[in-house]
Amino acid sequence: MTTARAGDRAGTSGSMERPGTVAPAGANQYEYDRADAPADALRLHLNEHTGGCSAAVTEAVARVTRETVAKYPDYTAVTRAVADHLDVPTSRVLLTNGLDEGIFAVAIAQLRPPGVAAGLVRQPARGTSPAPAPVSASGTGRKSRIVAGSLQPVACGLNEALILEPAFGMYADAVEAVGGTVVRVMPGAGLSLDREAIAAAVTPLTGALFVASPGNPSGISLTLAEITWLASLLPAGALLLLDEAYVEFGGESFIPHLDRWSNVVVGRTFAKAYGLAGMRVGAVVAREDVITRLRRVLPPYSLNVFVVAALEAALGDRAYMDDYRAQVAESKRLLYDACERWGLPCVRSDANFVLVRAGDKRQALLDGLQARNIYIRDRDRQPGCEGCVRVTTGLVTHTTTCIAAMEEILCARA
Ligand SMILES: Cc1ncc(COP(=O)(O)O)c(C=O)c1O
Repeated sequence: MTTARAGDRAGTSGSMERPGTVAPAGANQYEYDRADAPADALRLHLNEHTGGCSAAVTEAVARVTRETVAKYPDYTAVTRAVADHLDVPTSRVLLTNGLDEGIFAVAIAQLRPPGVAAGLVRQPARGTSPAPAPVSASGTGRKSRIVAGSLQPVACGLNEALILEPAFGMYADAVEAVGGTVVRVMPGAGLSLDREAIAAAVTPLTGALFVASPGNPSGISLTLAEITWLASLLPAGALLLLDEAYVEFGGESFIPHLDRWSNVVVGRTFAKAYGLAGMRVGAVVAREDVITRLRRVLPPYSLNVFVVAALEAALGDRAYMDDYRAQVAESKRLLYDACERWGLPCVRSDANFVLVRAGDKRQALLDGLQARNIYIRDRDRQPGCEGCVRVTTGLVTHTTTCIAAMEEILCARA
């Protein structure tokens, strides 16, 4: 098999192309684009909750006392609430500062180059002969011994992470940040899994595979058979991060199957269906031994006391979440109908957004909507998404405003 590298950084990280994959267009391809928009804009570009969080959340935050703020947070009750909500024991839940932090935890735990994780190499003091030698081989990465000369991290091998495109950009950001190698696998027809390309991309160096179900930006869910096939493909010691950021809107959670799949970590967020994006709170769910490993690479107090209060309140207001889910379902139906009228193909979505194949009308839609202070997301550069825009489908009133504006733009162009 031929391999080639592109965009290597510091000699230990980068992206790799394999049969069935393509190299990134530029070195900064993975830099996270915050895609800012004015505060008063109709923000349909980041898959946020367009109705705001439950009023119970802001009330709970307002009740936080000065004494509580002065103490480090206690996560016992909130972890119990999340575990009950997900129907798992508390030992299988790790709360994170947004699911972004959960993604980073998997990358750190799995992909640090062994030389950096396991020890350091002594560079000789100036004027002495170059004889670098490992000074710590404890395997824990927590100890080093200072000897003459300066200590330099060294990579002893590559740790590769498979990313199934089109993918959420944070996976590659996290992999590159910890010095891993991104191996991007292109999608098959209709944004399906290309099983042959995926199987060819797995090697004994594969440390992690990142995939979302429902996918972002596709909105397509993986089947149970596809998830277990992916998990069974990985070498011993590798982890599959199954990102379920949007699962409240459609598809089925893999959490009930974690008993049988010790190499799967399910990622969840409370940003989307619960409207807590600004609070930054998510969770990873996995077998206890995996959670223990992930906990070790994160700070002990990732969530502040306001977030703790907010999350407990959000989980307690089930009716608010159910109502929003119904609105999202109706919004998607309205957008599907509109796309059909306009002759624009779109992808049926299990998430709170729809990927629209706007083709040569893409730029006019982006510009025309922005001129009307409505923001949607350009996904043209993502593999398999050429000519696509992604539209968040939240409250029906917001969706109808956006559809009316899109119609105006498309009619003016016709
Ligand atoms: C697929 C996916 N995973 C994870 C996240 C990040 O979630 P959080 O806001 O909890 O960090 C997002 C946010 O857009 C996402 O789309």
